[in-house]
Amino acid sequence: MAREAVRETLGALRLAEGVVDDAVTMVSELATNAFVHALGGRPLLVMPTAGLPEVQIYGRGRGRGTEVVVRVFDSASWCGTVPSGAGNLRPPTEAEGGRGLELVNALTVEHGGRWGAHRSRSQTGLTPVSGKVVYFTLPVAMPWRPTRRDCHEAARELRRLLAARGIGPLHLNEGWRMAVVSVRAEITVWVRDETFFITLPGAGAACHPVCDVVEVAEAIVRCNEDLNACARR
Ligand SMILES: Nc1ncnc2c1ncn2[C@@H]1O[C@H](COP(=O)(O)OP(=O)(O)OP(=O)(O)O)[C@@H](O)[C@H]1O
Ligand SMILES: [Mg+2]
Repeated sequence: MAREAVRETLGALRLAEGVVDDAVTMVSELATNAFVHALGGRPLLVMPTAGLPEVQIYGRGRGRGTEVVVRVFDSASWCGTVPSGAGNLRPPTEAEGGRGLELVNALTVEHGGRWGAHRSRSQTGLTPVSGKVVYFTLPVAMPWRPTRRDCHEAARELRRLLAARGIGPLHLNEGWRMAVVSVRAEITVWVRDETFFITLPGAGAACHPVCDVVEVAEAIVRCNEDLNACARR
């Protein structure tokens, strides 16, 4: 299913055939990892109502271009050290496994993309569940032209996306050509002049065009999960 979803979506974005083939290989590695390392490599006898692995695909602006993000979510903790780059990926020559992420690293570098892993929350199922995503990105040769929104629509859409992930209570204040979404004490988002202004602990201040509302929601979900994990320690 992961391979099919990526082939269909990236094919529709008219990425070159070779790039789509490589993306299918990469998602195959990530989905296999979710099956083997997170689900224990066994078919599920009882289907849980939440927390199943997910393939998530979305677009975002990057510089003047567009980037497609492909992520595989699972709700298990990482086995061993969370990979942070090419440095800790090379397995010993005689090892039978440990090459999937090395392959993802090599293919993203080849196509000018990036990859990584971070905390997140599920998007499907009866209730949102904490977990992690392993993702890769690929540049897309088409301008980023998503739906235009005014600041109030953008703030409401952000609130909807965050509430759907079980984040809150959220407070939305709308004013003259501006809106403020308060997510938690550490996270407040200002929306003004078709731009999200946001400061996230650990990531610093950033601004995003309002059309990148999905990306902003994802960054907040990630930060929220990091803060919750810190509070539990
Ligand atoms: N979704 C995941 N959940 C938990 N741990 C993971 C996950 N994906 C990868 N890992 C950890 O990272 C390691 C490296 O993953 P990688 O895909 O490179 O190798 P592998 O799955 O062990 O072997 P191969 O992919 O070569 O068959 C895994 O052995 C596992 O410990
Ligand atoms: Mg693997």
